[in-house]
Amino acid sequence: MLSKAKSLLKIGAPPPVKDTSPKPDFSEPDFLEEFCALLDNGKPEQALDFFLSQAGALADSNIHRRVKLNHFRYAARILEHQTRGKHGIEKLTRKLRSINENLKGIEIPQGAFLDFGCGGHDPLGLATAHYLNGFDRAIACDLFPIHVPAYSAFSMYEILANMRGFPHNYLRPDGDLAEFRRRLIELDLQPFIDRDFEAGLAALTGKVVYRLDDIVNLDVEDEELALAVSFAVLEHVMDHEQVYDWLFRKTKPGGIQFHFVDLVDHRSYGGGVEFDPWSFLTEEIGPPNVNRLRASEHRTALENVGFEVLVDRRKAGTIPLETKEKLIPPWSEMSEAEIGATKISLVLRKPV
Ligand SMILES: C[S@@+](CC[C@H](N)C(=O)[O-])C[C@H]1O[C@@H](n2cnc3c(N)ncnc32)[C@H](O)[C@@H]1O
Repeated sequence: MLSKAKSLLKIGAPPPVKDTSPKPDFSEPDFLEEFCALLDNGKPEQALDFFLSQAGALADSNIHRRVKLNHFRYAARILEHQTRGKHGIEKLTRKLRSINENLKGIEIPQGAFLDFGCGGHDPLGLATAHYLNGFDRAIACDLFPIHVPAYSAFSMYEILANMRGFPHNYLRPDGDLAEFRRRLIELDLQPFIDRDFEAGLAALTGKVVYRLDDIVNLDVEDEELALAVSFAVLEHVMDHEQVYDWLFRKTKPGGIQFHFVDLVDHRSYGGGVEFDPWSFLTEEIGPPNVNRLRASEHRTALENVGFEVLVDRRKAGTIPLETKEKLIPPWSEMSEAEIGATKISLVLRKPV
């Protein structure tokens, strides 16, 4: 593409015509005042909506292109920080806090770590943090490929750099800071700075492993896993009996599992009023890629393969009356507490 453009220039193609059309109104001071006021008033979601509504006019304005880039860069970083960031450092440290809180006081044996369903944005963050905390090796796996490998690579560089500056944010409560630093310094940041995800991965060989595959196909030894975690994954597992059996077989006796399951109808996150967290329990054929199991069904299925439950934390909401009246079996026959649960965090142990 680039060489084609260069060759066009060489053969004397006319320079691009300068766009002299009138620009839409965009006032930088007004934009900043409104954006910062929304942030200052604790309304980051509205600030995000406002930013997106202005993005086109900002892009089309006469402001210098580097200044435009600054607006996109810093607004995005501030919003990531203040809106329970969906990617990068913010999401990773939030997950680590959640693991620490749920596993408080629970002993984890020596062995390997698994991030089951690591997602396609920052697939290596959680696994790397655990490798640095002394696990023998750390595996991350997902069925779906990475969305933008160059972004994931650069995000990994930011995570590793942040780990160097703020190791305590990534250290497990029983972690060894000296060992964390020793392992961290051995990791090569350069391929990630160069946005080369494959090369970054190759540099992590033997330490952190990424697999694009169904979990049941992973090359993990029986009883190798000391700790396996998943975030918002189990609700997407369609063959849950096979997967839960696999998790049990691969866990070492005394090994621990932590699973956060989001039981909400994900379409309700769209911001519209069309769906509430329980809408999919009123449909004969639900949305694709969700199993619609309720909290106790996950728990029972995991107990049935042999796990012992150490922690069972649930959050619940109030089902709107109009949804409650439309519930279909089997959900119409379940207790309100069962259907009302929106999240469950489970900590499990494989008996010794
Ligand atoms: C909602 S995403 C969550 C991703 C990530 N854990 C996060 O917190 O952002 C659920 C992920 O689980 C993955 N997944 C579901 N079933 C899987 C399986 N059997 N093996 C591997 N990954 C699976 C999906 O591909 C998807 O990326």
